[in-house]
Amino acid sequence: MSRLIVVSNRVSVTKGRGAAGAQGGLAVAMNGALRKHGGIWFGWSGNEVARFTGQLTMQRADGFTTATIDLEPHDVDEYYNGYANRTLWPLFHYRIDLAEYETEFGRGYERVNEQFANSLVPLVEEEDLVWVQDYHFLPLGERLRAHGLKNRLGLFLHIPWPPTRLLVSLPYHERLVRAMLHYDVIGFQSTEWLESFLHYCRKELQADVDEDSGTVQLDGHVAVARAFPIGIDYKEFMAFRGTQTAQRAYERLAGSARNRSVVIGVDRLDYSKGLPERIDAMERLFTTHEDMVNRLLYVQIAPPSREDVRSYQEIRATLEQKTGQFNGAHSDVDLVPIRYVNRGFGRAELFGFYRAARIGLVTPMRDGMNLVAKEYVAAQDPEDPGVLILSRFAGAAEQMSDALLVNSHSAEDVARALWTALHMPVEERRARWEKLNAVVRDHDVIGWAEDFIALLAAPPFHHM
Ligand code: ADP
Ligand code: F6P
Repeated sequence: MSRLIVVSNRVSVTKGRGAAGAQGGLAVAMNGALRKHGGIWFGWSGNEVARFTGQLTMQRADGFTTATIDLEPHDVDEYYNGYANRTLWPLFHYRIDLAEYETEFGRGYERVNEQFANSLVPLVEEEDLVWVQDYHFLPLGERLRAHGLKNRLGLFLHIPWPPTRLLVSLPYHERLVRAMLHYDVIGFQSTEWLESFLHYCRKELQADVDEDSGTVQLDGHVAVARAFPIGIDYKEFMAFRGTQTAQRAYERLAGSARNRSVVIGVDRLDYSKGLPERIDAMERLFTTHEDMVNRLLYVQIAPPSREDVRSYQEIRATLEQKTGQFNGAHSDVDLVPIRYVNRGFGRAELFGFYRAARIGLVTPMRDGMNLVAKEYVAAQDPEDPGVLILSRFAGAAEQMSDALLVNSHSAEDVARALWTALHMPVEERRARWEKLNAVVRDHDVIGWAEDFIALLAAPPFHHM
């Protein structure tokens, strides 16, 4: 079996019981995949140094090795806070109103991609498969080829791919996508993002695109683009069932809710997750059904994320204000309807919280996949499962059509789904859950990685 080298911006080894947090779906998924397959996980340490050296810090983790480099503060600013999170992230989540186009960000992004290529090349042996993750490294494949690497190179995008009409608002968009075509395999979370990508290649680059196989040919490069919906590490997650930590977390939440039904949200504090809109939906529900005030407890767990970026500071302030206002208006001496918790929890605790919740509220405005939806389903009691309310704008909606699918822009729609979920008979809850759970169980992160790696290892085309 070829050695696997995974590259991602964030390298974060999760520990079942330890403090987990805002590291997001990519880190949780890569832990699962690498534990199974072994290999090297290469990326940014998360630390800053005055002068970039490219010096690698190697550490042995659970079945794999991590290799990390430190970055200079202005690189972090321009590449990570700048181009990745102030330009690409909002644009790719359809928020061109928030996207900032600064030449310095673009330069920093290219510079750091080159630094990554420089540090990575000496690590790579002839037969290695190199698998790059996410929007931080769209041009890394091209950089690696420029260094003479002939290995198979794959890219997986964890976030949506925007419609062509939005993407063309990005200066130098052609250059960015042309650079991506140096990868052999390009993976997306859903067919919707894949189709947008192929559409762009055909329309804007006049590439030769075969929709059926996902093959894109341009200037002698052949890349294959496919949808590989990511899953959770089902076995690892299910091992928390019945643990003391999960049980205690369950009792803590269920007990403190007393006779109210718990609605749970678990998200990085990000404007793409639709958190203020959830409060609007609660408001709508409480206005139309006054009795709901005494029947629901909404727990939103939202650890801060990307705190140096202004739009993230703003979403945090907005949420604090809205939660405060809402609770001010609807609380009583012995009742507060929203518990807003700004921190991370261990994965075993999350399991217990999910299980204690009658409703999983997963309503992003736009999301590559959304693993919380899958974790919520996995954690349910098969005899008395809760109901998943899922935004149709999450990649997960393509696979999870037995959830209550909602338009997260419509407070009315989400409020209606909350009411329906609360009144759903147990037979219907079980029937929906069984289908959803089969999807989550049968399409886990291990299979996801295997499928991607299989195509990467044996592509039906030749590198020219
Ligand atoms: P994203 O990658 O955009 O953050 P996902 O829903 O795909 O969104 O993945 C989020 C992952 O991070 C899930 O595995 C979830 O359990 C984890 N996570 C999110 N918030 C917390 C938290 N407060 N504590 C622990 N884990 C969290
Ligand atoms: O899964 C999407 C993602 O953007 C990952 O790429 C990223 O690691 C994660 O969310 C959390 O964001 P960050 O690494 O910027 O804290």
